[in-house]
Amino acid sequence: MILLNRSSSIRHLLRHCHRQVIAARNKDNLTDFHGKWPEKEQQNFIKDMRVITDFISEAEEQQLHEEIEPYMSRLRYEFDHWDDAIHGFRETERKKWYPHNRDILERVRDIAFQGSIMPYVHILDLAPDGVIKPHVDSTRYCGTTIAGISLLSDSVMRLVRTDAQKYEQGDSLNKAGESNENAATAAAETEAYRHQPAALKDDNFYADLLLPRRSLYIMSHTARYNFTHEILAKEESKFLNAPIEKTRRISIICRNEP
Ligand code: OGA
Ligand code: MN
Repeated sequence: MILLNRSSSIRHLLRHCHRQVIAARNKDNLTDFHGKWPEKEQQNFIKDMRVITDFISEAEEQQLHEEIEPYMSRLRYEFDHWDDAIHGFRETERKKWYPHNRDILERVRDIAFQGSIMPYVHILDLAPDGVIKPHVDSTRYCGTTIAGISLLSDSVMRLVRTDAQKYEQGDSLNKAGESNENAATAAAETEAYRHQPAALKDDNFYADLLLPRRSLYIMSHTARYNFTHEILAKEESKFLNAPIEKTRRISIICRNEP
């Protein structure tokens, strides 16, 4: 019995070391491509989907968290509507920030946006059991670029190519020959903040991105319009076959004007 316990703890230790090795080896490679990517698509994707590790320091993470927490902790996590793009979350928007945190957001603006960012910054708090299902942010409410800082937890973001023919946002959806039902769905979707187009990863190409705690991702142009994005649930949270522990995660997301 003792032997058994010991061998299982050795196995645990080995697994842990293996993960550390993977993490070290891939510090510069945070993207895992799946499926057959046309070369041009892949080049554009690499240009338009960037992850910057250690964008903020531990002290900055804490200072952002301290500003958000008093408000956030009073909200309750939403688990009610399974149809919604996000499950197990609470969210808010914030315009006024303490000066030291405003400085961090200025850094996001400098690095991710040519012009200005929207005055309201979006804060999304995802419970340990929460999940962001595949969606595309509506072109009605958000421009070419979405940039997010991850606090408190690593996570894996998956981007799956949508079918550009089947999936077009806006009025072009309402063209002749479409069934009424589709038109109605399209109309409702146009209103929604997050669209959930079909983008099946089988027979398709997609990419998994490791988003380390304290990193910044910058999703723009093709990555923003032609791919759905999602944050994998904790059971599915793996990168290059290594489990990535996803706990509570807060993201601070800046967008530009449509
Ligand atoms: C969203 C979203 C990603 C994140 O709120 O629409 O995709 O990093 N969030 O939390
Ligand atoms: Mn989104």
